[in-house]
Amino acid sequence: IKLKITDRDGVLHEVDAPTDMNMNLMEVVRSYELAPEGTIGICGGMAMCASCQCYVLSDHQLPEKSDDEDAMLAEAFFVKDNSRLGCQLHITEDLDGLEVELAPAED
Ligand code: FES
Repeated sequence: IKLKITDRDGVLHEVDAPTDMNMNLMEVVRSYELAPEGTIGICGGMAMCASCQCYVLSDHQLPEKSDDEDAMLAEAFFVKDNSRLGCQLHITEDLDGLEVELAPAED
C-alpha cells in the first residue's frame, strides 16, 4: 500500500508499505529512516512511550484505540484530536493512501 508521511521537518514522503510482513506504522517510519534513530519507537511498540505519535490527516476509518493507546496519549505531549500511536496502527489494506504527520519529538 502507499502511505504519505510528513516527517518532523515538514518533508512529505510517499512510501510503499507491505501488508504481509506484520508491520506497524512506526516500523515503516523507521525502515525508511524518516526520523532519527532513538527518537521513534523507543518502547519497541508497546504503547508506552508516545515517540511514535503521529497526526492522521486523511479521513481513513481506523481501528479504535486500545485502552493502552488511550492511556499513553492522555499523558503525551503535543496531542491533538487526530493523534494516534504509530506502533498501534497495523499495516493493512484499509490504510492504503493514509496520510500522517509525525508529531514533534518530546525531549
Ligand atoms: Fe512507544 Fe509506539 S513505539 S508508544
